[in-house]
Amino acid sequence: MVIYKGKDYKDVSRKAANIMSAQIIMNPRSVLGLATGSTPVGMYQQLIEWYKKGDLDFSKITTVNLDEYKGLSPDNDQSYRYFMDQNLLNHINIEKSHTYVPNGMDEDSERACKEYDKIISMVGGIDMQLLGIGGNGHIGFNEPGVAFEKETHCVNLTESTIKANARFFKSIDDVPKQAYTMGIKNIMSAKKILLIATGSSKAKAIYDSLYGPITPNVPASILQLHPDVTIVADEDALQLL
Ligand code: F6R
Repeated sequence: MVIYKGKDYKDVSRKAANIMSAQIIMNPRSVLGLATGSTPVGMYQQLIEWYKKGDLDFSKITTVNLDEYKGLSPDNDQSYRYFMDQNLLNHINIEKSHTYVPNGMDEDSERACKEYDKIISMVGGIDMQLLGIGGNGHIGFNEPGVAFEKETHCVNLTESTIKANARFFKSIDDVPKQAYTMGIKNIMSAKKILLIATGSSKAKAIYDSLYGPITPNVPASILQLHPDVTIVADEDALQLL
């Protein structure tokens, strides 16, 4: 495990974008596992900037996102598909048909999840998985207590995650209560993991994940067993280390 300390959000975004860029340049056909949330936005902006300068080519890249709210359509501005289009995919030369997000509109959870696992194996597995981390140590929508051996599955969001996500919705009642998410098994099968975290609200989760016991109560603690994890975080998020 390698940990890079960034000065601030901008520095973390730039360092993480550098690592992702290296992956894209070394293997232009990479399958990138992507995340939503506020942490990766700066990194995506940096990647777009380098693409516009002519330094990056996404034409042969495939992306698979971690998760999607159940019940939100791609054109709902709170869906993760919409987020990815707005924050990255619409601004680079990627084939849209090579970008995947779980199908939030499929009401049949079992079918939607099986379908997503099939897609991940069809594209040949994930070369580099980007992760943010929740204040409770969640990765994707894998909340504390989730079984490590799960693949894509439907989750009931916890009260704390619903509250944390409420900032993106008009009211807390509009926040979906379920989501489809890659499981820990999918995440751990990625060849490389890049986890980014900023702010003191992530400090305990980072500490517990890296130095605490490996336990489903802190989903990100499983990363201690992954052979190739890079963490890029700011001083606030690393303050307990
Ligand atoms: C997003 C995701 C979540 C977030 C996490 C941190 O696709 O799967 O696990 O990475 O909730 O979110 P932010 O970056 O908003 O603090």
